[in-house]
Amino acid sequence: MGRVTLVDVFKHRITQKYLQRSGIHHAVTVAGYAFDMAVEKGVDPDLAAKSALLHDMGHYEWYRDGKWDYDEYRRHDIHAIKGAERAHKLLIRLGEDRLTAKEVSVAVLLHTDSYLPFGLDEKRTPLQHVVAKADEKDEQPMGLHHYKEMDKSEALRLLHELDQKIEAYFDDRNPKSG
Ligand SMILES: [Fe+2]
Repeated sequence: MGRVTLVDVFKHRITQKYLQRSGIHHAVTVAGYAFDMAVEKGVDPDLAAKSALLHDMGHYEWYRDGKWDYDEYRRHDIHAIKGAERAHKLLIRLGEDRLTAKEVSVAVLLHTDSYLPFGLDEKRTPLQHVVAKADEKDEQPMGLHHYKEMDKSEALRLLHELDQKIEAYFDDRNPKSG
């Protein structure tokens, strides 16, 4: 069975529904950073890019009374938990390998510790670390990174490019014999 691509993941209606809220620009940018960091650190770049693309898909209710209320949002925030479940469900529907789906889901769950009563520094696996760092790299104060715009065609173009880089990475490591 072929690899579930980032383009497959992006095009699915679940992704389209939930990525609008946290921003396509942020998701695609973080996926690109995660790919580069993963290759550098010897982490599976497919897992890293998928986790990064989906890391914020648990975001919800950005506005209150028609106004963006960052503090209120932070107080109630469980987006990493929701995102972990959504990412898992989505990947399973797409026919993803179950262990991959689980690893991505846990990386989404642990991409931030802002909702936890303890910090995760030092406790993350290399994959989880890459996803958290890639997210941090694109972050702006007050969540402004969620409002940068990118249209769907540009997102698809960049994700297709990233898919090709991921496939080339695995081809280089496992050259087909004959
Ligand atoms: Fe993020």
